[in-house]
Amino acid sequence: MTQDRAAVMPLVNLHQYESAAAERLPRMVFDYYAGGAGDELLLRTSRAAWDGIAIRYRVLRDVSRRSHRIELLGHALDWPVLVAPMAFQQLAHADGELATARAADATGTGFILSTLATRSIESVRAATGGPLWFQLYIYRDRGLTEALVRRAEQAGCTALVLTVDAPMLGRRERDLLNGFHVPAETPIPNVGAAPRDVLAERVETASSLAAFTERHWDASISWADLDWLGSLTRMPILVKGIVRGDDAVRALQHGASGVIVSNHGGRQLDTAIPTARALGDVADAMAGGGALLVDGGIRRGTDVVKALALGAQAVLLGRPVLWGLAVDGAAGAQRVLQLLKEECDLALALAGCRTPAEATRDLLAP
Ligand SMILES: Cc1cc2nc3c(=O)[nH]c(=O)nc-3n(C[C@H](O)[C@H](O)[C@H](O)COP(=O)(O)O)c2cc1C
Repeated sequence: MTQDRAAVMPLVNLHQYESAAAERLPRMVFDYYAGGAGDELLLRTSRAAWDGIAIRYRVLRDVSRRSHRIELLGHALDWPVLVAPMAFQQLAHADGELATARAADATGTGFILSTLATRSIESVRAATGGPLWFQLYIYRDRGLTEALVRRAEQAGCTALVLTVDAPMLGRRERDLLNGFHVPAETPIPNVGAAPRDVLAERVETASSLAAFTERHWDASISWADLDWLGSLTRMPILVKGIVRGDDAVRALQHGASGVIVSNHGGRQLDTAIPTARALGDVADAMAGGGALLVDGGIRRGTDVVKALALGAQAVLLGRPVLWGLAVDGAAGAQRVLQLLKEECDLALALAGCRTPAEATRDLLAP
């Protein structure tokens, strides 16, 4: 009876998409997408931190004409949102990242392709005309890492997102319990032929992703690697996984064009600081010296307004896009983005803002 809920009742918010996806996806996949590290406390505190911020809205501001366009690293976006890099999207729908990239394009949303995507950089680039950024992990094999960077640049990606909060994989117990693995027939075309084998191995109470990362990711990565990366490419580099002002400033000193305040959606260090609490300090430390983005638990238009007011230029949306993809492929992902876009428009207007730039810190209650 509950199986086709999305078909029989309209889904009116992002939370409902999660419930609908839970009914459709195999348990192993839903848990991999939804889960967090350890006791999953950070999943809850991340949401609660956005919820706990109150908006001191302005009134009588003539909000009849509004524009949510922003400029980010030289590109125009229709609204201040990008799809976060997320691995293995074909597990949600046969069209995988092609579908999410098309949904992003159709809604004027930026798209960040994960290194662990199930579609090639080139095919995603060919499928859409919107801004496409590539997310990178630094592999032990620096040759493979360098080849990937060059490939992304050649394919037409316009920024590189270096994820730094995962020198090792967080302890994701749902994945251990489910013996998470990526079926051998699932393509993972951006990591080369050799590294992927271990991902397909199903081992009782173990995660194949944990085995993969232990073998191929480099726990020794340091600021020197950011310098090295900068020497390889002309693409601007954003450092993803920052929660401290001093680290943000260091990232800029090492040549980054900006940072993404993120704790990997609660999937790495449980009980880490929620991004809603970290963002203001990072913004203050950076003092406008680079691009500033944030992600983690953003589910409502009001969350976007709060992120902007705290100093972010844009936010990344993660899991809800996968829920849309699972419910109805590209159309479902598009609907999720459209819902948030409409909420965002309304929340900005009701807060007295005609543009994202008008969402300033004084909008938030102390
Ligand atoms: C299923 C899944 C896979 C992810 N894969 C990656 C990845 O490959 N690279 C990366 O930098 N972050 C990855 N992330 C983290 C997201 O980019 C993002 O930081 C986080 O999901 C944002 O939080 P939200 O899902 O609450 O919106 C992943 C997150 C999820 C849920």
